[in-house]
Amino acid sequence: MKSEFNGEKYKLASVRQKSWGKKLISELMVRGSERILDLGCGDGVLTAELAKLVPDGLAVGIDASESMIRTARKDHAAPNLRFELHDINAIDFELQFDLVFSNATLHWIKDHGRLLKRVFKNLKPGGSARFQFAGEGNCSRLIKVVREVMSAEDYSGCFHGFDWPWYMPSVEEYRKLVASVPFAESRVWSENADTYFESEEVMTKWIDQPSLVPFLACIAQRDRRSFRDAVVEQMVAETQQDDGTYFETFRRINVLARK
Ligand SMILES: C[S@@+](CC[C@H](N)C(=O)[O-])C[C@H]1O[C@@H](n2cnc3c(N)ncnc32)[C@H](O)[C@@H]1O
Repeated sequence: MKSEFNGEKYKLASVRQKSWGKKLISELMVRGSERILDLGCGDGVLTAELAKLVPDGLAVGIDASESMIRTARKDHAAPNLRFELHDINAIDFELQFDLVFSNATLHWIKDHGRLLKRVFKNLKPGGSARFQFAGEGNCSRLIKVVREVMSAEDYSGCFHGFDWPWYMPSVEEYRKLVASVPFAESRVWSENADTYFESEEVMTKWIDQPSLVPFLACIAQRDRRSFRDAVVEQMVAETQQDDGTYFETFRRINVLARK
């Protein structure tokens, strides 16, 4: 991964991601002895929750960001909890898992055909995958604003050959992909999680970490602040509501599949 996240800043900027993830976890049916793999564990908060559900099992959180893994290891320790620096694109564990879980991460992965095959391979027979990630229509304001600022004269030279960081499929497209893997049963559905940020400060924290990370990586250090400020200024103008909140679309894809 070319861009780098900041685990400590992410902790302060991820209230929404955490609440989506905790809801997913609250709906899991586990006995307590399962092995769980958490793809893109970030600061480890959700992986630690998963570990509590399986006192006789194991929860392994993987992430490609050194900073995230450092924060996760610092903040969370339990005998049945492990954090590993690992690229999701390269998962190939000897261990097989009862559950492969992922929250607010898989839109950073571009090749989901390969991902789903590898997840299938890393599941025990009867094991399940439970994902939630961004789908079509997610962050429509931010994406429009970022594209506009990227094409401004000051920055357009920075993005030659830029690999757009996110894959946000429609639910129909994703259903087809899941159907191409021999799961015994699967369900793919969309969810509207549109959000009114309560203040400019809260929205800005989310813009800074993690959303702008891959874009800033393309810009010379001296110009990063002005790029970021231009995005924040335009986002405030585009999203401010009469009651002082800031609106953004959050559209999620949910996946539940059993091997
Ligand atoms: C928005 S955070 C979500 C973290 C956590 N799941 C949560 O819900 O709070 C997305 C995470 O995906 C990780 N990530 C992105 N691409 C990755 C990749 N190719 N391999 C592993 N981790 C990746 C990032 O480092 C980041 O920690």
